[in-house]
Amino acid sequence: KLKSRPDMEVFVGTLVHATDSDPMLIMQDMVLGVINGKIEFVESVEELQQLKAEYGFTDANILYMGSSQFLMPGLVDTHTHAPQFPNNGLALDLPLLEWLQTYTFPTEANFSDTVFAREVYSKVVDRLLRNGTTTAAYFATIHLDATKILAEVLHSRGQRAIVGKVNMLRNCPEYYREASLSVSLRETEEFIRYVKGFENSLVLPCVTPRFAPTCPEDQLGELAQLAIKFDCHVQTHLCETQPEATWVKELFPWAKTYTEVYDFTRLLGAKTIVAHAIWLSPQEMTILAERGTGVAHCPSSNLSLRSGHCNVRELLNRGVKVGLGSDCSGGYSPCMLDSLRKCVHVSNTIAMERAAQQAGDYTPLSHKEAFKMATLGGAKVLSMDDKIGNFEIDKEFDALLIDVQAKGSPIDVFSQDNVEMKVDRFLYNGDDRNIVRVYVAGKRLLDSTTSANATAA
Ligand code: GUN
Ligand code: ZN
Repeated sequence: KLKSRPDMEVFVGTLVHATDSDPMLIMQDMVLGVINGKIEFVESVEELQQLKAEYGFTDANILYMGSSQFLMPGLVDTHTHAPQFPNNGLALDLPLLEWLQTYTFPTEANFSDTVFAREVYSKVVDRLLRNGTTTAAYFATIHLDATKILAEVLHSRGQRAIVGKVNMLRNCPEYYREASLSVSLRETEEFIRYVKGFENSLVLPCVTPRFAPTCPEDQLGELAQLAIKFDCHVQTHLCETQPEATWVKELFPWAKTYTEVYDFTRLLGAKTIVAHAIWLSPQEMTILAERGTGVAHCPSSNLSLRSGHCNVRELLNRGVKVGLGSDCSGGYSPCMLDSLRKCVHVSNTIAMERAAQQAGDYTPLSHKEAFKMATLGGAKVLSMDDKIGNFEIDKEFDALLIDVQAKGSPIDVFSQDNVEMKVDRFLYNGDDRNIVRVYVAGKRLLDSTTSANATAA
């Protein structure tokens, strides 16, 4: 009898993922093997005996998924604000610029208190993992110490993340702004070096100018240089509302468009994520496509703050990468399934408006395309698709074990349901109770399976 390999985990059953050619490919009767956190093989279950012989694993390494279960890639949240979670579900009665001044800046200012920061950030990371978000791009606050705490919590919990200390010098309260340009740059560099010093870490530092209204031109330019020097990601907000875009043109009279402000200061690259990007001209979309810059589409926030409907179809048609962002607390839900559903509904709304105005055909996004945006699309936006996003061989194993009949499941399953129906029901009606295991880089971070619904033979 072959010796058991504790370093190996093997799954037998249904796999669901996005590929470049299929937004939601369902593969039944498969076997997927993980070694050292990476996907070693994905084969038909007919190869199981052969694979056992080749690799020397036994049934002790195998999870035989039941008919109510399937494996999908971890969800990717391309834009959220960890310090705004205390406001989730609250204070959504003002448009963006007033909302920031009235609720958001005062809330973020509380993170000068590092004890409070640790409490909140621990809850945030646990909540996202519970909801199957295996990778997230986080804004923190302007505070260096609290932002280091967020990075530490992410590192110790094992979530994959990019995280940034927020930069802002103007158009925000005196009590909540960085002290000067030199302090801003020095602390940002210190944060980058601090996070890069973590060993075996899935956490990356990110240069995070809040948005053009709060950052003068010299700050934007210097931050771009820091990102280039350290080869880090950049994240910011772009064209979320019309009043914001008008204001940016006043603040930067030399720029023809909002996008040019970031482009001329050299902030746009393949590792840059811009959130919202609702009110772009075709020329601005072309700039994003040429730079390889990705858009974090945040439908929940865009609806709550009444910012607008982002035309994702047009962005995709023009070659712009698009992923989904929960954008808490502009959006109220930390769950990417909520973003996925609202993404489809916003696209349906655009289609209805077009039809009513007889403004030409518009193909709304399908839930399959939204599934892709929540997984592989998000990985592309974060320039991590070489590592994560689907079940390609050699990628890291970031995955969710879904059970549509898990304890307390909100989903009714009927005897005539086929596997595709089960997947669709999870996407539309499922919640964290259906996410029974969460893996990041092969590590099981969460497991609520019982012998009743997951059996290792
Ligand atoms: N634009 C600048 N800051 C913010 C923020 O915190 N949330 C949202 N939704 N938009 C922003
Ligand atoms: Zn945001």
